[in-house]
Amino acid sequence: MRIGLIGAGNIGVNAHIPAVQANDGMAIVAAADPTPDRLALAGEAAGLVPEQLHADWRDLLACDEVDAVIVATPQRFRPEIVIAAAQAGKHILAEKPLALTPAAAQAMIDAAREHGLTLATVHNYHFMPVYRDIKDVLDSGEIGEPEVAVLNYLGVEDRPGTAAFNPRWRHRAAESGGGVLMDMLHVVYLAHWLMGGPPRAVSAWIDKRLETDGDVEDIALVRYTYPHGQALVNMAWGTGPGGIDIGGTRGRITMDNQNAGTHPFVPVERLNVVSESGTRSWTPMDAAAYGMAGIARDFCDAAQEGREPMANGEMGLAALDAVLGAYVSGALSEEVALPLPVDHPVYTKGSAGIGDLALPESSPVVRRGLFGTAGALGSLRGTRKEVPPAGAGPETATNERRLSRSHTHKHGGNHGV
Ligand SMILES: NC(=O)c1ccc[n+]([C@@H]2O[C@H](COP(=O)([O-])OP(=O)(O)OC[C@H]3O[C@@H](n4cnc5c(N)ncnc54)[C@H](O)[C@@H]3O)[C@@H](O)[C@H]2O)c1
Repeated sequence: MRIGLIGAGNIGVNAHIPAVQANDGMAIVAAADPTPDRLALAGEAAGLVPEQLHADWRDLLACDEVDAVIVATPQRFRPEIVIAAAQAGKHILAEKPLALTPAAAQAMIDAAREHGLTLATVHNYHFMPVYRDIKDVLDSGEIGEPEVAVLNYLGVEDRPGTAAFNPRWRHRAAESGGGVLMDMLHVVYLAHWLMGGPPRAVSAWIDKRLETDGDVEDIALVRYTYPHGQALVNMAWGTGPGGIDIGGTRGRITMDNQNAGTHPFVPVERLNVVSESGTRSWTPMDAAAYGMAGIARDFCDAAQEGREPMANGEMGLAALDAVLGAYVSGALSEEVALPLPVDHPVYTKGSAGIGDLALPESSPVVRRGLFGTAGALGSLRGTRKEVPPAGAGPETATNERRLSRSHTHKHGGNHGV
């Protein structure tokens, strides 16, 4: 498979090029990036000649010798590129998150399906040995049915984007769609994988407590409800603890990281299983370059065999939807049903649609001005959107619930993708 790399930032050059090179039957034959330094780096790393390097991805898509593309730009550029790639007949491996909005992610899925092409999303944690070990234990039935999964990732390193482009894009909601939970949505799809499918509801605390720039969350404490069980995804930039604990009906599995730090920023030390058949403990294999070689292999095989990849577009959409649902829950201070309905402002506008909701004044999302809601507080004063004080009468509480449960737009209007 001859692959064009679109987006030669940190992940493109440091992870995708070596991942393709580690596999037989795959080669990088072109790269596209508007940032000259990055394009030159990609050329060096992949051994490309100047004719194979393109400032504009459209020129790469016009190359007949490209069978497939890896789209490793920041997410806000991805939908247009992916849809054009499908129209040009290229298979697509798209970085996560697929897009800023579920509507755009759905359009990407539709484009690939319409043209009979593979759209896979880079859910590379599926390919890290430690998570495969955990999944194998759950699938074996050794600890019974999983009831509660606690996934602590409270010590995520806040790594900037490449200096040559725009290192702070992850901190701007308009560019990233969200903060640490959006960036680390790996743990959201892991929770779905371990708990047997996408969740049907979410309840979340979303806040920003560090003195950093931008309008995105740096902490997200999230509870997902699955048909059989719950997962707590606790995520933050900072120095908090990490690890996984899963309780099943007949036992438990726990993941201990070095110094109780956050994986994969620190290695996993032990996996421990306690079940009716006893206790066992082992050190999983190394994270093997974040599972990127595995995802490249799976993408290539899926496209060539005409089968679904390990993580297809629909799974990318479900993960994005679950992250945005957590933001909506945190903004409204109430549980939110998933998936988001197609007429929801956040379905069509992503986190930018949160400002269209009837937001309670008490919400940390509003107080911190996250997701472009700065200024919303002033406009909320004197409206009916304040949350009633604790102990308020049942009539007031019911009115509030009806107001905030509806996703009535603050100011109507049409929302494009
Ligand atoms: N799967 C993972 O483990 C993982 C890890 C890191 C990043 N990512 C994802 O990869 C994407 C890129 O992240 P990064 O850390 O490499 O970002 P980065 O800021 O380091 O690099 C972004 C690159 O995209 C290029 N770019 C911007 N607009 C472009 C366009 N229109 N066409 C082509 N190239 C364009 C920039 O010039 C830059 O080189 C993000 O979506 C991020 O979420 C995934």
